[in-house]
Amino acid sequence: MFNTLFAVFCGAVAASLYLSATWRSKPTASALPFPPGPRPVPILGNILHIDTSEPWLTYAQWKKKYAGDIVYSRLLGQNFVIINSEKVAKALMDQRSATYSERPVIATNKLFGVDFSTVALPYGDEWRLHRKLFHNALHAEAATRYQDLYLQQARILLLNIFQVPTQYVAHIQGFTASIIMGLTYGYDTAPRDDPIVRSAEELVALLAEALSPERAALFTALPFLERLPPWFPGAGFKRKALHARKLLNQVKNVPFDFAKRKHAEGAVAPSMVSDLLRQIDGQEDMSRQEKAISDTAATVFLAGFETSSSTLHSFILAMLLYPEVQARAQAEIDAVVDSASLPNFGDRPSLPYVDAVLREALRWHPTVPLGIPHATSSDDVYEGHFIPKGSLVIANVWAMGRDEGRYTDVDDFVPERHFTPDGRLVPEPISSNPIFGYGRRICPGRFASEGLLWAAMVSILATFRISKAIDSEGREIDIDAKFTTGIAVYVHFFTAPLFLD
Ligand code: HEM
Repeated sequence: MFNTLFAVFCGAVAASLYLSATWRSKPTASALPFPPGPRPVPILGNILHIDTSEPWLTYAQWKKKYAGDIVYSRLLGQNFVIINSEKVAKALMDQRSATYSERPVIATNKLFGVDFSTVALPYGDEWRLHRKLFHNALHAEAATRYQDLYLQQARILLLNIFQVPTQYVAHIQGFTASIIMGLTYGYDTAPRDDPIVRSAEELVALLAEALSPERAALFTALPFLERLPPWFPGAGFKRKALHARKLLNQVKNVPFDFAKRKHAEGAVAPSMVSDLLRQIDGQEDMSRQEKAISDTAATVFLAGFETSSSTLHSFILAMLLYPEVQARAQAEIDAVVDSASLPNFGDRPSLPYVDAVLREALRWHPTVPLGIPHATSSDDVYEGHFIPKGSLVIANVWAMGRDEGRYTDVDDFVPERHFTPDGRLVPEPISSNPIFGYGRRICPGRFASEGLLWAAMVSILATFRISKAIDSEGREIDIDAKFTTGIAVYVHFFTAPLFLD
């Protein structure tokens, strides 16, 4: 299907070549050069220079080639500014956040019905209201109220792995989904195969395919594609969009109505929706507030499910490939937690190596290697380079985690790198890891995800030994570690037995 669209696209490009004379002309507002970068060709810009399946690799090469902590490129008529270092990301996206907090318009968001989500909202009043709600419900202190939920779901995860170890992938997804539904709506999912969770997972999978950056660029460049009827050859995406909107209706409304009912009955368990309904301000527009609560709640699954599950899958892969790391983390747990108990959050300060494993899992194969693009809301100048209004600004988190000025053996999983020379964990908190983004758009779910990731990792390490599968001749099956591509990346699934030690 993507190929058909690409053919349509190339035709349209040929027809519009006459526009090419002006497309790269630099705005007269500034005589300054753009940041360094590869020379674009008319219309397509640098698209042919980019490894579209793993663009972070191309951007990291550009960093070397153009001495580019900041690199400029052009794709399909759009200015792209790629930031390859934490220093520049902080200088622009944090310190100049008034200019760097817009999101680019992505036509497919509307088509698939997800333009309501906090992630997609333009930088304005509606987005500010969402951020206020997220802050009230999930700031650092508030997120700790869900620690019992994280641990309780981690116990169910262990049981599920114990019963059907080969399906650990589904169990991890079930774990993340159950926490998200509990934390957001106070909704208790079935231990396996919950119908709402199934619909939400189907929706996320559909969106991951539909909202890929390549497809988004195509739709933005050729808006007429949106108006093709669903029966049009090659317009299968329209049918998928219809299906996504149907699923979304169910995924948004069923649990929200459930949470409202519970709230009206005086539910005591904390949940984001019931907390926020309690805080509704009677002086303000009630229906606007209720819609914002429903929209932020539905955003949690879209933003938190794949990202958290994917980090846990990468953790399992790392434990499999680095048995010495696994053994060291397990020895630490054994020394702190007695063998009849499972670790809980009170043990966390005594388990620094487990924390280092979590930090390394976020660095090693970042689940969102290019973050979520920001856009500039006005022209800017950085170190003598012009950054036009409306540029897409991408933080190359993948390259930041492979900064050879800061880390050695960057491709290896080495938790030790997160300790200071005197043996303490480096002081930066996990919540300020580049993986959670920058500035006013920084991930508001970072405290909750840190808690749920820690609970799953420490519980698995305390209970199971993860090792390579054995073939019929008793030999270990080698793992070829590969990752899917897209906005969020996943480990390609592999066979890994999880033994009870
Ligand atoms: C390992 C797990 C997670 C990772 C790696 C992650 C990463 C990110 C990143 C990179 C962004 C974009 C930040 C930026 O634009 O600079 C983001 C945004 C967001 N995340 Fe997360 N996230 C995770 C889990 C969660 C969870 C569990 C939730 C909800 C409880 C959540 C809610 C959001 C929301 C609402 C946004 C949009 C913020 C905005 O546009 O203002 N995320 N996340």
